[in-house]
Amino acid sequence: TSYEPCDLVLFGTQGDLSRRKLLPSLYQLEKAELIHADTKIIGVARQSMTLEDYVDEVRANIIKFSGEEICEKTWQQFSERLDYVCVDMKDMNSYQTFKEHVDPSRIMVCYLATPPAIYGDICRGLNGCNIIDESVRVVLEKPIGHDLESSKVINDQVAEFFEERQIYRIDHYLGKETVLNLIALRFANSIFATNWDHNCIDHVQISVAESVGIEGRWGYFDDAGQMRDMVQNHLLQILSLVAMEPPTTLDADSIRDEKLKVLKALRPINASNVADTTVRGQYTSGFVKGNEVPGYLEEDDANTQSQTETFVAIKAEIDNWRWAGVPFYLRTGKRMPTKVSEVVIYFKRQPHNMFGDSFKSLPPNKLVIRLQPDEGVEITVMNKVPGLTSSGSMDLQKSKLNLSFSEAFADEHIPDAYEKLLLEVMLGNQALFVRRDEVEQAWRWVDSILEAWRSSSEPPEPYQAGTWGPVYSIGLLARENRSWYESK
Ligand code: BG6
Repeated sequence: TSYEPCDLVLFGTQGDLSRRKLLPSLYQLEKAELIHADTKIIGVARQSMTLEDYVDEVRANIIKFSGEEICEKTWQQFSERLDYVCVDMKDMNSYQTFKEHVDPSRIMVCYLATPPAIYGDICRGLNGCNIIDESVRVVLEKPIGHDLESSKVINDQVAEFFEERQIYRIDHYLGKETVLNLIALRFANSIFATNWDHNCIDHVQISVAESVGIEGRWGYFDDAGQMRDMVQNHLLQILSLVAMEPPTTLDADSIRDEKLKVLKALRPINASNVADTTVRGQYTSGFVKGNEVPGYLEEDDANTQSQTETFVAIKAEIDNWRWAGVPFYLRTGKRMPTKVSEVVIYFKRQPHNMFGDSFKSLPPNKLVIRLQPDEGVEITVMNKVPGLTSSGSMDLQKSKLNLSFSEAFADEHIPDAYEKLLLEVMLGNQALFVRRDEVEQAWRWVDSILEAWRSSSEPPEPYQAGTWGPVYSIGLLARENRSWYESK
């Protein structure tokens, strides 16, 4: 590999994210020989433990969470990179020991896989032991704040020690292959590039459905809700990539400038239009994939009075030239029938039907971009049913042009989002990371909706676990003669 070696430091290496995602992803990068031979991986956590125990634990977690047998040759190489330091991240004195484990002449990547509440402490600790210079990169996990104000506080704390070009804010959706493919589809294909606006597109749907519930995270989730957990970050990032103007190049600021413009053009939703443009729901007990599951208010540790939303549907409008009059319907929820994320582009109908009655009006073409699972791209087209008829009429049928990733790229390993993002950080490329102004603009839009919900006395609409959300979310489209795309 051509890039420089680094000291990759995982603050919070004992946490869920590190164990489930970061270390298994680094192991996959090792397997693909994408980590520089001299790069070191240094785990940092509060527990005191020997390096030997740490290495054993990392191995066990890789086996557990990567779901594959370990390759001994890869593991050998990988384990030799590992180091462990016990640091009480809130105690400024404890960073001196840490300093002895890193080499100040190399690039240092600090991945803060800790609660955001201690980002400031970690930055101060690093500063206190004098190891911050221009070459240090810092990676921040979400949630960056709870609203605009608190996100500014966190961003300010980090900005005291790091320039924006050193800060890598993670939205793991930006590391997903199929999300990146939105850029390729749009800008490497003239059939899409030239038909991507209000002249050709009727509306866009973005659905991110999850079948899981709260998974023991009630404390975190109840404070956040689906709006902060999913819409503020993942859905708005997808929307920006679908709607942005062509960036001049693929470099970080070209892309991020264009995404920011989309976020700025989102029509505000506030008390005056919230009832017409949003639906929030909360699941009650039901069956998901044949298993009976409790309602949100019956989950372990639940506050039975909670009005936190577990489902959100929004009609978003982008007030700019390209998208005037084209609604973007967003929908995301927990405890839905299945896990599926899709972007569906509904093209405009043909103005005139010359094919007779079998279709009163011809159905619109749809471009379905399935982000996960069964990754793929599908276009629905009208096609003549082959054969002769005595009347000479032409029978049409809806058919699909189908690109399935698992068939087309059967031999390729589809990397986990974190593999891509960790690699990009080590390469020093910020394109797939969220810039401060994007985060803040997204909060501005979301805060206004949350505020409008708060000030209305309406509780969230109940929906049964295992369904596609409250019936009102069907109404959101039905009153405009549209309906949600039904996934397979
Ligand atoms: C996380 C949210 O950011 O994304 C979780 O905090 C959610 O609540 C998860 O389940 C979904 O990610 P993915 O990659 O499984 O679609």
